[in-house]
Amino acid sequence: MRFFVDSADVAAIAELNDLGMVDGVTTNPSLILKSGRNILEVTKEICDMVSGPVSAEVVALKAEDMIAEGRKLADIAENIAVKVPLTWDGLKTCKVLSDDGLMVNVTLCFSANQALLAAKAGATFISPFIGRLDDINLDGLELISDIRQIYDNYGFDTQILAASIRTANHVTQCALIGADVMTAPPSVIKALATHVLTEKGLDQFTKDWAQTGQKIL
Ligand code: E4P
Repeated sequence: MRFFVDSADVAAIAELNDLGMVDGVTTNPSLILKSGRNILEVTKEICDMVSGPVSAEVVALKAEDMIAEGRKLADIAENIAVKVPLTWDGLKTCKVLSDDGLMVNVTLCFSANQALLAAKAGATFISPFIGRLDDINLDGLELISDIRQIYDNYGFDTQILAASIRTANHVTQCALIGADVMTAPPSVIKALATHVLTEKGLDQFTKDWAQTGQKIL
């Protein structure tokens, strides 16, 4: 499973990228707001650093305007994936831009039928939002599983980009289900390295080592 970083924080992306953990990046208007940066400038900086797909989201609501915005965003770099919302206009935009040979990430997906439509419109990525479904007491992981089965049933090559990931368990379950990609904030990716028994074990080793009175260096 590929790891995308869900962030527009260049320093946080760079830290993970230096460790070889970053296969791509996803941004959205809220993350651009949080970064306090200009969308074109920060996206270019991210694209120069990361070789995999970098999603940049359109903000218009009508297909004609979304297409124009998508083309402008795609001009930033060759590794841009234009992110469009899962609305009827978003699907029209997806079809036009994917026919042009651009990568398209269809976002804000909350149902298997929406995912089916995105695949038929030629989406490169479908982004089902796990955490936001969990927030309203629905099962976000079940949606990932349903989309996996549907795409496999019919041989769609749209990649499942599991999004709105909030916990380490979301990551494990997505990997078990067979999501192609997951996107998570830097804090969630870093948290994957932690385990209470790792901390406990290291604490004990450190104390025991001090008692030996030895040094390695
Ligand atoms: C995905 O591309 C979105 O940017 C993101 O995963 C949304 O996550 P959130 O629901 O935590 O805002």
